[in-house]
Parts: sequence; C-alpha cells; structure tokens
Amino acid sequence: MDRSRDALKGVAKELAKSIAPGATLGLGSGSTVAALLEELSPLVMERSKRIRGVSTSTQIEMAATRYGIELVPFRGSVDLVVDGADQVDGGLNLVKGGGGALLKEKIVMGSAKSVAIVAGEGKFVKRLCENGVRVPVEVVPMARESAKLKLSMLGGVPEERLMPKGYPYFTENGNIILDTLFEPVDEPRELEVKVKSTPGVVEAGIFTIKPITVYKIGADGSFEAMTTAG
Ligand code: A5P
Repeated sequence: MDRSRDALKGVAKELAKSIAPGATLGLGSGSTVAALLEELSPLVMERSKRIRGVSTSTQIEMAATRYGIELVPFRGSVDLVVDGADQVDGGLNLVKGGGGALLKEKIVMGSAKSVAIVAGEGKFVKRLCENGVRVPVEVVPMARESAKLKLSMLGGVPEERLMPKGYPYFTENGNIILDTLFEPVDEPRELEVKVKSTPGVVEAGIFTIKPITVYKIGADGSFEAMTTAG
C-alpha cells in the first residue's frame, strides 16, 4: 500500500512548527504542493487562525482557496516557499516546470527567506535529466525557432509542449514551453545560466537556489529532510 500521504502529513506537521503567526507563504504549483497545503493549512490555522499565500498559478490559487488560505499579492518577498519538483539531484538542484508555472515559481522562490521542497522518492537522481526527464524552458513565441536552434547548440533536444489535440501550449504568461532533453547534467548552475542567456528565453526550469530544504517522501509513509546551504 502506498503511504505517501502519511509522509506528507508528517512533513506538514514539521513545517507548521516553523511557520510564525502572520507569515506569508509562497505557494508553488503542482499536485504534491496542493496535497501538502491540504494537510498544512488546518495545522497552521489551529495556531494562528490565519494563513496567507502568494500563488504561482491558477491551479494552486484554486487549491489554496479550497483550503482557506488567504491569497495576497506578491510584494517582493515571502517568508517560506513550499513547492514540488519534477526531479532532484544529489546537490539538491531541481528540475521544475512540468505544470508550466516555472517563471512565477522562480520569482517567488528567489525572494523567499526559506525554501521547502517536497518530492516523492522516485524523483531523486544523481544528476538532473537522468531517466529522460526534460528541462522546461519558457520562451516568448516569437523566438520559437531561434531558441530551438540555440538550445540544440547547447547540446539540448528541444520539443515544443503541445496540448493533447496538437495545439501549442501557452503558459499563464502567454509564452511557449520547449521541453528540452540534455545529457545528465554535471554543472546545473552553469547550464541554467547558459539556457537563460539564450535570446527569447524567459526562464529555465533548472533551479539552483540555495539554501534549500528538500523533503523526500517515501511510499512507506516515512520522510527524510535534506538541507544544503549551497
Ligand atoms: C509546476 O510548474 C512544477 O514546477 C511542479 O512543481 C512540478 O511539476 C511538480 O509537480 P507534481 O507535484 O504535480 O509532480
């Protein structure tokens, strides 16, 4: 039996202890963080009656509203980001953007006093892009072809994200996503910078922000917290 939900409950309890009354959370996007918020919000509300969050997508905005979290505008910084990831490497670098929310996720995470990432044990690898996981790259539509070419010159194999019926996928910012396969990444920060400096690229789904705490969720109901100062 998969007991990941019990592990998430354990993480929520741990996080709730560190959230001061009146704190503002940065809410990453995805199914894992939505499930975490369901567990976390009643625990925080028990103590401080109130939980405020800055959303990074309509998906998490809808979940936050469901769980009684008051949404507030982003005013340049948040106390704690809670988020998920598509892949986590040995240095606690991340691939993110499977849900297309990478741009706002990186803005909010980059402003956070602390960062907590929650990811199932199957997402942990030695090097990013192992197992064929692609790096989402958000690109302005005009640069569709030129960015593909530049990403290929960096050794990537870009593939435009499409909707199920073949229409282009647009992010909430009106951009396209090039899901790009790279060889397993030895220097994630270097690749992040190179991808970001490609004309037309708005954001790269490689996250090397530090310090960071990553919670590894076990299917047996256990969890492990890993922290790196960078
Ligand atoms: C959203 O764009 C992503 O960065 C998510 O954090 C990531 O895709 C993880 O999503 P799940 O928790 O749904 O796997």
